[in-house]
Amino acid sequence: MKRTHTCGELRREHEGLTVTLAGWAQNRRDHGGLMFIDLRDRYGLTQIVFDPARPETLKLGQEVRSEWVLQVTGRVAPRPPEMANPKLATGEIELAVESFRVFSRACALPFEIDEHARVGEEARLAHRYLDLRRPAMQANLAARHRFVRALRETLDGLGFLEIETPVLAKSTPEGARDYLVPSRVHPGRFYALPQSPQLFKQLCMIGGCDRYYQIARCFRDEDLRADRQPEFTQLDLEMSFADEEDVFAVTEACLKNAFRQGGGVEAAIPFPRLTWKEAMARYGCDKPDLRFGLELSDLSDLAAGSDFKVFRSALAAGGVVKGLAIPGGDAFSRRELDVELLEIAKPHGAKGLAWIKISPAGEYSGAPAKFFPKERLDAIRDRLAAKPGDALAFSADRAGVVNASLAAVRNHLGQVKLGLVRPGSYRFAWVTDFPAFEWSPEERRWQSAHHPFTSVNEEDRDFMLAADPAREDSGLDRVRSAAYDLVLNGSEVASGSVRIHDSRLQEKIFRVLGLSEEGIRDRFGFFTEALGYGTPPHAGIAPGIDRLVAMLLGLDSIREVIAFPKNARAADLMSGAPGEVEARQLRELGIARLEEDGAKA
Ligand code: AMO
Ligand code: AMP
Repeated sequence: MKRTHTCGELRREHEGLTVTLAGWAQNRRDHGGLMFIDLRDRYGLTQIVFDPARPETLKLGQEVRSEWVLQVTGRVAPRPPEMANPKLATGEIELAVESFRVFSRACALPFEIDEHARVGEEARLAHRYLDLRRPAMQANLAARHRFVRALRETLDGLGFLEIETPVLAKSTPEGARDYLVPSRVHPGRFYALPQSPQLFKQLCMIGGCDRYYQIARCFRDEDLRADRQPEFTQLDLEMSFADEEDVFAVTEACLKNAFRQGGGVEAAIPFPRLTWKEAMARYGCDKPDLRFGLELSDLSDLAAGSDFKVFRSALAAGGVVKGLAIPGGDAFSRRELDVELLEIAKPHGAKGLAWIKISPAGEYSGAPAKFFPKERLDAIRDRLAAKPGDALAFSADRAGVVNASLAAVRNHLGQVKLGLVRPGSYRFAWVTDFPAFEWSPEERRWQSAHHPFTSVNEEDRDFMLAADPAREDSGLDRVRSAAYDLVLNGSEVASGSVRIHDSRLQEKIFRVLGLSEEGIRDRFGFFTEALGYGTPPHAGIAPGIDRLVAMLLGLDSIREVIAFPKNARAADLMSGAPGEVEARQLRELGIARLEEDGAKA
């Protein structure tokens, strides 16, 4: 090695030793005669001091600019006590230069490599390799490494095999658009990059692999957000002769170890569970943030029969009235209630957000209050577990709108306005018994809520088989699937299911989903055939690694834990991908651009 130690390694105990370090010149400070350079590598920072008694070395050192790469040999010396830097692991020593060498020079950088410099994300992404030099990015990548290593360790201990599946494949439906790759050898034909290895992992089970996992790259051409990338990484796993209990236990063991090794966090296992129905009733959404209470309650029965028009008309139209208590909300201003909270609810379809304040003396005020007798108001207050000094917020509409609006209000109150989240808390929960199907109003057909390989609850199976899939009112929305999600602090971090291992049931589900005989054969024929050759019962899950690591480290965007992420428009600002290709390449692939076709026509 071109060094004897790293820049993060030297301590008092190395005093007097002659060592060689190599790294980047973070900065140079020339105090007339005495000159310092901070030398940086992945491991840390060491202060290099130039001896004025060695004018040759000093002269060379004065040429050094930020980010030059140096090799420095010298003696480890203690810093004078007043010069020690307790914030730096190497802060008690410095390296007195005896000789040094420049490995390479650096041009002026587009931005400073400094933790405190405020650099826009576009600039960071355009020169990501420079951004990666920052200690924070190094720490993120190292945490991700430890996280994934812990997953591998745990699964290895449980007898799982790490198996690679193809990236050039056929489409697997996960609900997003496919990235397509044209084939040169088969003109006019395309591979699809996998949205997940779903079919392959099930085929591994049919192939007798028993316990499979893969740190799998998935590709989805969908609208991006802070917690979504067009390519991302899952811990994809599948188990034979197993049901959801087994998958839960394996996932809990994996994440317990990964949170400990990745971020020193002790996650409490087993994770609590709630059914989808319960989650919707109590939190208004299927990914509740359990770091605070603020639970919702259905008040339709108590709200019925009043002259308050908002409630009356919503109930008459078959809707519901739900509400939640806002601790200390009596002190909220009208602006806070009628503007701030309403703005949170509106994007979810809410037309208003009614409220009642309870004064410290227990008196009620607010629009709905005068339409109810005191006993009824007391009953509403008690159902919401409110007390004097609180406020009550209500939404009245279709259940979907009410749940979504109040869920958003609840998150805003807990996470932002009331600050009920203790920093560094991690609340996992399993959400089970998802509906198997949801009606797509655009396509006017039933779609799988998870994916079409998910088993349905035994108790609902006969009903499903008898239902008419062509009708919106067939009741198929009541069929429960054997699908489950893992949520953490209000985000979905994993999802999975018990799979169908019976080819006849699988074909029936495809048909419920509106696939024709021919469509099934064409898209999944190889798979339904495979199911017919002896399939073990199996179940699996896929935690999203980027999302989990970002949350573990308390980061807002998954881009912070991906070495080379794409921006919100799915572009790589550094390499310029996606890029143009040569006309010759397109011709070889048998592909013509539409404009060209148009121009010819
Ligand atoms: P699903 O589509 O729910 O399930 O994905 C599982 C987990 O992957 C993560 N994830 C993403 N992370 C970053 N960017 C994205 N665009 C993105 N999309 C999904 C989430 C999510 O919870 N084959 C099934 C799993 C199974 O049934 O075993 C699947 O892919 O954390
Ligand atoms: P008023 O118009 O004074 O009777 O009060 C109407 C109150 O009900 C206002 O606070 C509105 O924000 C609220 N409101 C209107 N529509 C709804 C709704 N669908 N659900 C809950 N509150 C509503």
